[in-house]
Amino acid sequence: MQPKLFSPLSLASITLPNRIVIPPMCQYAAVEGVAQNWHTVHYGTLAASGAGLLVVEATAVCPEGRISPRCLILQTDEQEAALAKLVQNMQDIAPTVPILQLGHAGRKASCDVPWGTGACLSQEAGGWQTVAPSPEPMNTQDTQPLPLTLEEIDTVKKQFAASALRAKRAGFAGIELHGAHGYLLHQFLSPLSNTRTDQYGGSLENRMRLVLEVFSAMQEAVGKEFILGVRLSASDWVEGGWDVEQTAQLCQRLEALGCAFFDISSGGLSTQQKIPLGAGYQVPFAQRIKQAVSAPVIAVGLITEPTQAEEVMYPRQSRGLEML
Ligand SMILES: Cc1cc2nc3c(=O)[nH]c(=O)nc-3n(C[C@H](O)[C@H](O)[C@H](O)COP(=O)(O)O)c2cc1C
Repeated sequence: MQPKLFSPLSLASITLPNRIVIPPMCQYAAVEGVAQNWHTVHYGTLAASGAGLLVVEATAVCPEGRISPRCLILQTDEQEAALAKLVQNMQDIAPTVPILQLGHAGRKASCDVPWGTGACLSQEAGGWQTVAPSPEPMNTQDTQPLPLTLEEIDTVKKQFAASALRAKRAGFAGIELHGAHGYLLHQFLSPLSNTRTDQYGGSLENRMRLVLEVFSAMQEAVGKEFILGVRLSASDWVEGGWDVEQTAQLCQRLEALGCAFFDISSGGLSTQQKIPLGAGYQVPFAQRIKQAVSAPVIAVGLITEPTQAEEVMYPRQSRGLEML
C-alpha cells in the first residue's frame, strides 16, 4: 500500500502531489527587504526536494514589521519583482507548490540576526521603534513598544491586504497568515501580551478581532478562490495564556470565513517555559484542531521520521483523522 504521506491532497482549488510540507524558515538574507541570490538557491534546492508544499519564510507587510533588518518585506514593486523571480525559479525546477507567509513582528521586531546577538536593536544600532497591542515589552531589557492606535490598526489591515495582492501577482499559489510565535497577531490573541481595554482587548471575541479582520481584508484583496491559510500557536505554554481551546474556537471562525488550511505550531524555546520538547511534541495540538475543523491541518515539531509522519496523519488510536 502506498504510504499516505505520498498520496495527493486537495487544497482548495489545487492538488498537492504529496503531504510533505516545508515550513517557513527565515533566512535573514534580504537586503532592504528584497530577496537575493541566496533565496534563489535556497528555495530552488528545497523545491527540488519534491515536497508537496513549500511555505516561503515570514515576509513583513511593512518595514517595521520585520523581525530583523535582514528579513523580507513585500511592500514595493522591487520586492514584488524579486519574489516573482523566486517563484518562477521554483516552478521551473519542481512541481512543489510555493506559498508565502505574511506577517508582522510587532514587539518582537527590530532584533539583530540570530548569528549576531539576536537581541533587540536600539535605533542607534539600526533598529526601529516597535509597536504592539500594549506597551509591555517581550523582555524587560527590550525597548518599550508603542501601543497601536485604532487608526494604526486600520493601516496594519490595509498593509496585509496590499501585500497579499502583491503575493498573488508574484505567482504564489497561496498565502499563510502568520498568527503564531509571539508576533503581532499572536500578541493580540494572548491575554498575556494584550491588555487593551478597547474592542481589540479583553474578551476572547475582542482578542480574536484583529486576526479575523486581517484575514477578511486579505481575502477581499485576493478573492475567495485564492488559497489563504493561517499559522497559529496553539499555546503560550504559560498558565492563563493563549491555549488550544481558544485556538480551536478561532479556527472554527476562520474556517467559516473560508480559511483553506491551518498550520498548528506553538514555538518557544524559552527556558522560563516548561515545554516538553520531544518527538512530535506539538502534534496533539494539531490533532485537537483537526477535531474542530474540516480543512487540512499541518502538524509540526520534531517530526523527523517518515513512519512518524505517517502515524501523525493516520494514528492507530483514532483512524480517520485526516491530516496534511
Ligand atoms: C531557522 C528557522 C527559521 C524559522 N522561521 C520561521 C518563519 O519564518 N515563520 C514561522 O512561522 N516559523 C519559523 N520557524 C519555525 C518552523 O517553521 C517550524 O515550525 C519549527 O522549526 C518546528 O519544526 P521542527 O521541530 O521540525 O524544526 C523557523 C524555524 C527555524 C529553525
